[in-house]
Amino acid sequence: MSRLVYVLNGPNLNLLGKRQPHIYGHETLADVERDCRALANELGLEIRFHQSNREYELIDWIHEARDAAAGIVMNPAAFTHTSVAILDALNTFEGPVIEVHISNVHKREAFRHHSFVSQRADGVIAGLGTQGYLLGLRRLARLLDEKKG
Ligand code: DQA
Repeated sequence: MSRLVYVLNGPNLNLLGKRQPHIYGHETLADVERDCRALANELGLEIRFHQSNREYELIDWIHEARDAAAGIVMNPAAFTHTSVAILDALNTFEGPVIEVHISNVHKREAFRHHSFVSQRADGVIAGLGTQGYLLGLRRLARLLDEKKG
C-alpha cells in the first residue's frame, strides 16, 4: 500500500520566518520541509511537499493526491476560512486528512475561527507552531499502520 503523503501549504507560507514572526515563528518553510523529510524517513513515509499562493494549484495537487497518495497534511492558510473549492477537492480524496495551523487560530480574530477544511479533516492541529506538521505526519503514519492491520 502507498505510504506517500502530500504536505500542502497555502498562501503566504512561502514567507514563513519573515512573515509576522511573533505569530508564526522564525523557522522558514524550507526548515519545515527539511524536518518533515527527516521524520518521514523515520516513519517510512514518502512525502511530496508543496506551497502555492494560488487556490487552483492547491486543488490540482489534491486531485493528483487522489490517485497517488495515502494521506494529506495541509495548512490551507487563509484559504481555510474562505475556500469551499478546497473543501470540495478534499471531499474527493479518500484517505486521511490532517489540517495544520501554526498559530492558535481560535485565539485570534473571529474570522479565523471558522474553517471549511475542518468539515473534512480527520484531525486538526492548531497553535503548536511548526511542530504541528510533524505531529500531523505521526498521526497519518499511525492511521496508515492501523489500516494495514
Ligand atoms: C495559518 C492561520 C491562518 O488564519 C492564516 O491565514 C495563515 C496561517 C496558520 O498556520 O496559523 O496564513 O493557517
